[in-house]
Amino acid sequence: MRGLPTNEKSLLPSNTPRTEDDILKPRPGWLSRNGKSLGLLFGLFLILQHIITPHDVVGDIFDQSSAARGERKSSCQQADAIYPKAYNVSSLVVNQKDRVINWLAGAVRVPTETFDDFGKVGEDDRWDKFYKFHEYLEKSFPLVHKHLKRTPVYTHAVLFEWEGTDPSLKPLLLTGHSDTVPVLPATRNLWKHDPFSGYYDGEHIWGRGSSDDKSGLIGALAAVELLLESGKFNPTRTVLLAFGNDEEIAGNGALALSHLIEEKYGKDSIAILIDEGNGVDEAWGQLFAAPAVGEKGATNIQIKVETQGGHSSVPPPHTGIGYISLLIAALEAHPFKPDLQIDSPLVNYITCAADAAPDIPKDLKKNALRLANSVNSKKGKFDRKALKAIEDWWVTGSYEDGTLPQGKGRALVSTTQAVDIINGGLKVNALPESVTAVVNHRINIASSVAELKEHIEAVIAPAATKLNLSIEAFGKEVNLLEGPKAGKVIVDTTKFGLDPAPLSPFTLDDPAWRVFTGTAKGVYATRPEAYINEDEAKKEIFTVPALSTGNTDTRQYWNLTRNIYRFAYQYGKNQHLNNAHTVNEAISADVFVEQVRWFLNFIVNVDEATDL
Ligand SMILES: *[C@@H]1O[C@H](CO)[C@@H](O)[C@H](O)[C@H]1NC(C)=O
Ligand SMILES: *[C@@H]1O[C@H](CO)[C@@H](O)[C@H](O)[C@H]1NC(C)=O
Ligand SMILES: *[C@@H]1O[C@H](CO)[C@@H](O)[C@H](O)[C@H]1NC(C)=O
Repeated sequence: MRGLPTNEKSLLPSNTPRTEDDILKPRPGWLSRNGKSLGLLFGLFLILQHIITPHDVVGDIFDQSSAARGERKSSCQQADAIYPKAYNVSSLVVNQKDRVINWLAGAVRVPTETFDDFGKVGEDDRWDKFYKFHEYLEKSFPLVHKHLKRTPVYTHAVLFEWEGTDPSLKPLLLTGHSDTVPVLPATRNLWKHDPFSGYYDGEHIWGRGSSDDKSGLIGALAAVELLLESGKFNPTRTVLLAFGNDEEIAGNGALALSHLIEEKYGKDSIAILIDEGNGVDEAWGQLFAAPAVGEKGATNIQIKVETQGGHSSVPPPHTGIGYISLLIAALEAHPFKPDLQIDSPLVNYITCAADAAPDIPKDLKKNALRLANSVNSKKGKFDRKALKAIEDWWVTGSYEDGTLPQGKGRALVSTTQAVDIINGGLKVNALPESVTAVVNHRINIASSVAELKEHIEAVIAPAATKLNLSIEAFGKEVNLLEGPKAGKVIVDTTKFGLDPAPLSPFTLDDPAWRVFTGTAKGVYATRPEAYINEDEAKKEIFTVPALSTGNTDTRQYWNLTRNIYRFAYQYGKNQHLNNAHTVNEAISADVFVEQVRWFLNFIVNVDEATDL
């Protein structure tokens, strides 16, 4: 799970810690566990709508008809559990645990690490190991390969099509990626079990990719293989499986897949897309399934300072390095303001938690209930003070009350900036003529690349002018200094700029969200007996919308559907050992079997949905 340079991934809930710092604060449930994946949030509509909608006009996060009767429905409205009508597909994994484990363990044993310096597919032979991975899939999933149409694209990305009997229905698209982040050679001896052993110790399957994302890829293939084996399911709706090969290096495998699908099926042709992402987790004593319904945007800004060179025995007051330091200091003195909007998924999340989670902090609960009641009492108005208090909780309260590690709550409601690279100076007695810094930004869902550029220009231009530097920002001259200048500042984006993802639907009037929440409920209700927890609060699961701070391959699929859910149903015993992207990546075998069971149910539920 990664995506864009430096990327991270899902936001809040997720049983899937992605990095070392994800495990920093293991205390209260997923809120804290998932550093990168702090996803959590819930929300509404899409960004565009968001931008053009006056913020007083609230959508229907809250139920208006009950408001008219002076009551407020719970903010946790959920669909009823949905079970496949054709037959009980959960029974297909009963007694299949060994096979399911072996499928994943075998996939881990075929290394598919990608590195940032990889050349093009077809030119750099380090890609060739992916042939082995595809051979492994062919050997392991014979029925998939027999009955589905397999089309490789971009050499190592692959599309499988399981044709439905009714071509007028939109296909279901399950996506994932076959590549993994590398195992750093220096850390190899820190692994409890060799990272490419796929070792199963009776509880966990160990190794690089066991979680990210071979569990998603193998989970989907296993479900289809089992459905084919049963001979009892013949899809009416086409099922597509699309697996990229370079998600971890933000490559183009998924883009090629997306183009292939768009060519054949058209724009907006997909019923629902599921990709890797957030999971099932507990927060404040309540269990939540929390798919990411959005992703923050991202871009990198390069700042370059050009000054006169010369001998350092007779220096000016500032060298290029001094200037760029002052510009960076100006940026850091003007961080982006937090901006939590009423239609953010995070608002929906907190209001649901206020209704459902017994251990939610008191103040947060009070404000969430005030907000929910205000929205319901009078159409089009809401309690701005309560919303602001909730925003403040994300920014500072979530850290102070121990819910989230420092910085994480703020990152969920703000655009972030991190100066990650600085270059300049070669020689101790020569003034540097050209100095550059690169700042990585993750863009708040309430903002955009364009707004980010405005902010950067508004901060850097006056600072540069004060320093007697001329400035060119995003291709245009900004200040016209009279007379000679000390140097020049050039500010621009590096090659990519990604706006926040359009938000996927997360209200019950939407059929995609209904089948998603109904399936989570049904799968949870039929969980193995051994999972049934004494704790009363855990006897129900609520699906809430979350956000991702990083980017997955889904950014390549926006043209195909609005209904994108980044989610892995990973719930059960030992669910929290995970360690994606770091040493000792592993997944609980029971959890993985449950994930396969979820895929089985979801595929059939989507097939049987009449309103998608
Ligand atoms: C389907 O079968 C499984 C496993 O045999 C069982 O646990 C579950 O309760 C059944 N589900 C339904 C809806 O009957
Ligand atoms: C700006 O820098 C140039 C070149 O170093 C210098 O000649 C000029 O006087 C400076 N102007 C101001 C206003 O400091
Ligand atoms: C989506 O469609 C637009 C308009 O046709 C096109 O410019 C863009 O490249 C497409 N995006 C992707 C990821 O294919």
